[in-house]
Amino acid sequence: MDRMEVTETFAGISLPGHLHTKESLHFAATFPFRATDVLIVTYPKSGTTWMQEILTLLYSNGDVLPAKTIPNWMRAPWLEQTYFRDALRDTAGHRLITTHLPAHVLGPALQQSRAKVVYVARNPKDVAVSFYHFHRLAKFLPDPGSFDAFLARFLEGTVQYGSWFEHVKGWLGQRQALDIFYITYEELHQDLRGAAERLGAFLGRPLGPETLGSLERHCSFAAMRDNAMVNYSLIPAEIMDHSQGRFMRKGVVGDWREHFSPRQTALFDRVYRERMGDAGLRAPWTLA
Ligand code: A3P
Repeated sequence: MDRMEVTETFAGISLPGHLHTKESLHFAATFPFRATDVLIVTYPKSGTTWMQEILTLLYSNGDVLPAKTIPNWMRAPWLEQTYFRDALRDTAGHRLITTHLPAHVLGPALQQSRAKVVYVARNPKDVAVSFYHFHRLAKFLPDPGSFDAFLARFLEGTVQYGSWFEHVKGWLGQRQALDIFYITYEELHQDLRGAAERLGAFLGRPLGPETLGSLERHCSFAAMRDNAMVNYSLIPAEIMDHSQGRFMRKGVVGDWREHFSPRQTALFDRVYRERMGDAGLRAPWTLA
């Protein structure tokens, strides 16, 4: 498989060379957004796929056909990945695009274009656990080693895709500059219907009860786990080793409690306080 062992470095962060090249990253950094574009922005494992599915259902008015027939990475392609140019549909209407890139790379172009941004954040302890398991599955990511070693690199910000803290703080810092909607994975869990209603209002597409009902059913963890267009079972075993686990792994809030030792929890809490300070994230998670 292509470039499985290659790491690209861009804007100070490491990215898997299987998915990114210098050229694809340059294309992303200079991409001419339109005011009608909707960009889903996340640090990996924060609910990216979930938001892709929610926005698919929102724009299809609850019709499940696109979500059941087109893979998520084609419905909302990743801006920075090599296949983006071919995947982007040149529709007259909205274009759904996904990215993990930091705010300092995309902020100016987004501001100029007035494209809409949906930023999803998740409790970083759960992100670390989910990312660790994903490393075991994804052959284009380095061997994570032990959870303890991985967690140390996650806290340092030397894992692929860079620092969670910098990503979240960078995008939170765009509050005034961009047309941006912030939501957390935990809020989606708590009230998916309410979150979808607020998203509909933000995107200028108020949702009726039927659309909301269909969206709720189709975007449940169980429905998505069983949908081949979104559970990554279509990806060949050379790229994702499905014997190591599922992409749709647990889909719960607070799984970190099953993984963190008291020492790891204390270390994480200290680094979180130091790095986040008063960053202003309305975080519905408890760190303790
Ligand atoms: P876990 O590994 O904790 O299960 P991303 O799409 O950003 O890579 O995030 C993947 C994480 O979101 C995985 O977390 C996955 O199970 C979870 N997820 C995806 N769809 C979900 C849903 N409908 N409900 C809850 N969690 C979901």
